[in-house]
Amino acid sequence: MSLRLVIVDDDPAIRKLLSNILTKCGDFQIVEFGEGKPALEHLEKVGADIVLLDLLLPDTSGFEVMEGMNRLLADEALTIVITGHGDMEKAIRSMRLGAFDFITKPIHAEVVEQALKRAFRTARLKRAMELQRNLKHSAMERIIGESEAIKEVKRRIVTSARDRFASVLITGESGTGKELAARAVHELSPRGEGPFVPVNCAAIPEALLESELFGHAKGAFTGADRAKSGLFALADGGSMFLDEIGEMPMSLQAKLLRYLDDGMVLPLGSTRWIRTDVRVIAATNKELEKAVEEGTFRTDLYYRLSVIEIRMPPLRERKEDVVLLMEHHLSDQAARRGLAKPRLSDEAMELLVAYKWPGNVRELVNLCVKLVVEHPGEVVKPEHLAFSGTDRERLDVDVNLPYDMAKRRVMERFTVNYFSALLARHGGNVSAAAREAGIERSYLHRIIKKYGLKEAASR
Ligand SMILES: Nc1ncnc2c1ncn2[C@@H]1O[C@H](COP(=O)(O)OP(=O)(O)OP(=O)(O)O)[C@@H](O)[C@H]1O
Ligand SMILES: [Mg+2]
Repeated sequence: MSLRLVIVDDDPAIRKLLSNILTKCGDFQIVEFGEGKPALEHLEKVGADIVLLDLLLPDTSGFEVMEGMNRLLADEALTIVITGHGDMEKAIRSMRLGAFDFITKPIHAEVVEQALKRAFRTARLKRAMELQRNLKHSAMERIIGESEAIKEVKRRIVTSARDRFASVLITGESGTGKELAARAVHELSPRGEGPFVPVNCAAIPEALLESELFGHAKGAFTGADRAKSGLFALADGGSMFLDEIGEMPMSLQAKLLRYLDDGMVLPLGSTRWIRTDVRVIAATNKELEKAVEEGTFRTDLYYRLSVIEIRMPPLRERKEDVVLLMEHHLSDQAARRGLAKPRLSDEAMELLVAYKWPGNVRELVNLCVKLVVEHPGEVVKPEHLAFSGTDRERLDVDVNLPYDMAKRRVMERFTVNYFSALLARHGGNVSAAAREAGIERSYLHRIIKKYGLKEAASR
């Protein structure tokens, strides 16, 4: 884990001295500043774990930098203040502002090293605790959304979790949160302390799936040089998440049905039945009814699995959650990477809400990762949302708006997309883009300004 360190001191000799001492102290990245304001800007945008801060700066005082940090970063960074010799009052004021430590000039290497080692230890601990805290959030808490559709999902999760045995079938398009819902059912159920074992039936070759699930005896097949217990044994006392259940081969479907009836598994090539206590939570992004009609999925198994069904709504049917989800995942991804969270402009928000999200929440999470990595701490504008060509055409028409307004929105979206793409094609050359579009250059300039397409234009 590499820590981020910022040095703010107007004296280049001191900056040099500090970075020399620092190289001995551990694994980190250093950024140096000679003035306070640019340092504060950097801190707001990128953040830091430790800041070495001189109090006397040419453009502002170290105190002001600290006040700014307190405002912008909460208690994210540890500040080590550098004061002139005998500046007791200043040292005290720094501590009141939340400084972690202070060192006095002239700088002695050992003193700095001591202070830094202490700060490193604390910063690491803080980071580890933060990660731990994020992991601790329960699956139910991680399901974000205030829409009626998602509230209904949560209600159904709570109800189905009450039962210890009944199978649950979770249906929904790809990326709608089926696995998250499955974890929530498990965690809230009386089996919550037991194991949660996810298996993707589509990812394991048919020939291996049976022995993976049920285990095998020694010599059951070539290469089975010793007995191996299966995932049903491993999940004893907990839940098994059978993802993409529609891909399970017919022969195994029969075995699964048997298991659901009596809780017994027979490892491949064995004659001894084993009892295990596992609740099955299955998921599918296909219409299982259709598979049943087509004869690729057993009717009896379908009824057995769908005792309780939870339908995950596609994101386009709960658009009121899009901004909430974006905010949540931008914060989450920024925190994981130690970067500052990008902010959404109103125009970007509109575009995000209008978008149809064919890849659902998974697509939204991927977009958040990209935005955090490419634009930490920046304001997200429409041109940063590079939806792919075909996706662009899927932009929604909002029938909840009066005709004029709905039309204007679609036109605006179209304008942004059209000119971002055109400018990109011409490497940001406004004249060339205007010529191809058949409009005046000055008109294109106005559009660029109005919709903030500058970055696309200068790329
Ligand atoms: N309601 C939600 N709130 C917050 N995050 C969500 C929500 N739904 C899904 N996610 C996130 O979206 C991503 C995809 O979710 P998940 O893997 O559960 O979907 P899935 O339906 O199993 O997708 P697939 O069919 O592609 O396997 C995960 O990162 C998950 O945390
Ligand atoms: Mg999944």
